[in-house]
Amino acid sequence: MANIMEIENLKTYFYTEAGVVKALDGISFNIEEDVTHGLVGESGSGKTVTALSVLGIVPNPGRIVDGRVIFEGENLLEKSDKEMQKLRGDKIAISFQDPSTSLNPVFTVGSQIAEVIMRHQDVTKEEAKQAVIEIMEAVRIPEAEQRYYEYPHQFSTGMRQRMAIARSLSARPDILFADEPTTALDVTIEAQVLNLMQELQDKFGMDLVMITHDMGVIAEMCKRVTVLYAGRVCETANVDSVFHEPKHPYTQALLTSVPSVLGKIKRLSVIPGTIPDLIHPPSGCRFHPRCAFAKDVCKKEMPDAVEVAKGHESACVRIDEINDELQARLKKAREEQASD
Ligand SMILES: Nc1ncnc2c1ncn2[C@@H]1O[C@H](COP(=O)(O)OP(=O)(O)O)[C@@H](O)[C@H]1O
Ligand SMILES: [Mg+2]
Repeated sequence: MANIMEIENLKTYFYTEAGVVKALDGISFNIEEDVTHGLVGESGSGKTVTALSVLGIVPNPGRIVDGRVIFEGENLLEKSDKEMQKLRGDKIAISFQDPSTSLNPVFTVGSQIAEVIMRHQDVTKEEAKQAVIEIMEAVRIPEAEQRYYEYPHQFSTGMRQRMAIARSLSARPDILFADEPTTALDVTIEAQVLNLMQELQDKFGMDLVMITHDMGVIAEMCKRVTVLYAGRVCETANVDSVFHEPKHPYTQALLTSVPSVLGKIKRLSVIPGTIPDLIHPPSGCRFHPRCAFAKDVCKKEMPDAVEVAKGHESACVRIDEINDELQARLKKAREEQASD
């Protein structure tokens, strides 16, 4: 399977007054062509910073300090601001978690998207408007022609989120990073937006990277997934394998905290402890202070993800020793969930 993007040893640090926040500390994974890729982890694990780094829009005081992002045979981290700006309008797009950051309240929704199109394509104002209406219809905005002239506050939250997606699609990107597109939405609207994303992906033939803290969304949408923890990769594998036989204790913990089916809000278990301080991260495996399986070896070296089964990479150095116990615990937790 060909890769559309390869992320290698990406390090993005924030130089704050309190110290250097190692938000991404050497993450690597490949995004395969025509395969919806998920990026999952708790809040603060580095999902958004990964997307911002790839797009070349890391805000101050952040800097990419190492790594490569290979796209179409070239390293994006060596490109000029101008080249990256062109790529962002053309090939790689992001839709933000909070739609208010991508829609300006003082301009009509339609004109904002038309402007994006005109900036990147040689079209007249009227042609741009027609293109916008088409995209608005694709994201199922009713009465798109009238709505073109409305302001963001005249749209419902769900509609605003769909418009934010429309804006990121207006450039017809080859690859879209969708950053928690449904986190602010209630469960019914969430299902609609997820269906819509799938439809649009087929219609526009783009690759999708789905960023979420929700394993349920990953199960629904993705074929492959990378699990992040505290700026490091825990594992990358097919979603089926990760759900049936995770190869990292953190993933197992995440899986047993999935809300039960049908969207009933029921957090089953919360992983004990909190995400570590990324100025002074734990030595060795960053998950070791919260890991039920940690031994001295886990405190020593920072483990990289390596292939432990076909197409399945894990960064747990003890995985061979603990695998049976890990799977047994997952099974037990699932049985308890089922009987609740
Ligand atoms: N502007 C910033 N200044 C300092 N630290 C930041 C900034 N933006 C992000 N970070 C840090 O980077 C880490 C990863 O953040 P983020 O990628 O937003 O996490 P996620 O999207 O997984 O919730 C967090 O520890 C966060 O505090
Ligand atoms: Mg985020």
